[in-house]
Amino acid sequence: MNPFRVHVPATSANLGPGFDTLGLALNLWNETTFETGAARFRLDIEGEGAQSLPTDKTNAIYAAFATTYAAAKQTPPAGVHIHCLNRIPLGAGLGSSAAAALTGILAANHLLNEVFDRGQVIALATELEGHPDNVAPAMLGGLTISAAGRNGPLTRRAASPDLSLVVVIPDFRLATKKARRALPDSYSRADAVASVGRAALVVEALRANDRALLAEAMADSLHQPYRLPLIPGAAQALAAAQALGAAAALSGAGPGVIAFPPADPQPVARAMQAAFTAAGKASRALFLHTSADGARVKPAE
Ligand code: HSE
Repeated sequence: MNPFRVHVPATSANLGPGFDTLGLALNLWNETTFETGAARFRLDIEGEGAQSLPTDKTNAIYAAFATTYAAAKQTPPAGVHIHCLNRIPLGAGLGSSAAAALTGILAANHLLNEVFDRGQVIALATELEGHPDNVAPAMLGGLTISAAGRNGPLTRRAASPDLSLVVVIPDFRLATKKARRALPDSYSRADAVASVGRAALVVEALRANDRALLAEAMADSLHQPYRLPLIPGAAQALAAAQALGAAAALSGAGPGVIAFPPADPQPVARAMQAAFTAAGKASRALFLHTSADGARVKPAE
């Protein structure tokens, strides 16, 4: 088979009150090239994680690749070369592990002549990675809504235009597992009701690109109050963005913060970075857009 490349976008899950439910694809792409027919396995990494990610068969991309072959009751090819060009920062709240799982699954599925359909790919990636609110937008593009269905994730793309946004990532790692352990087991009715209403309003605000509505609706009472104390400067970064009229939320489980500035994103990014600096954390700002496209496989040129 000719070499091919799997393109998978970064994603921002939750979007405030849409905890474990809403997700948005962003125009920041990992590109992974696969070549079969060699004598031995090889995996190399360029970009994010080049120094820290494993390059043996425990790599998350290869693990998902092998799992997909196993799910199809097939054996993966012995001599596969995988070259990762990683642009999605790791452990930042931008869906890098969902992207890795999807990359391996889509590559295997391509070599297996698309034995699994899109719904099955999303279900397999969710089983491996655990977060349909990252997997679904990475696969489908745009804004997605996900919930647990009778037979796996129930997920749909919702209408949304091209939106500009900024993500500020502090130099601080927060494992999603740790960020989930901080959450309570139950919530008050008031918190639950506020969350349902606001999550629905976030979907409408994104569809209409109504940044004022978004700024008010993007308040959360299910996860952020418990996670923000774990991330130095994050509460202040959200407040700084909101003071400039931007909707802002933790991106996924954090520690990255996503903001939708009403106009010029530069002052919003500067204010959020200043908040992290004041808390003793360096940070970087990514000026991004949403991506209408989801993951795809193309011939490697
Ligand atoms: N919804 C998940 C969480 C996303 O917030 O824990 C993890 O990327």
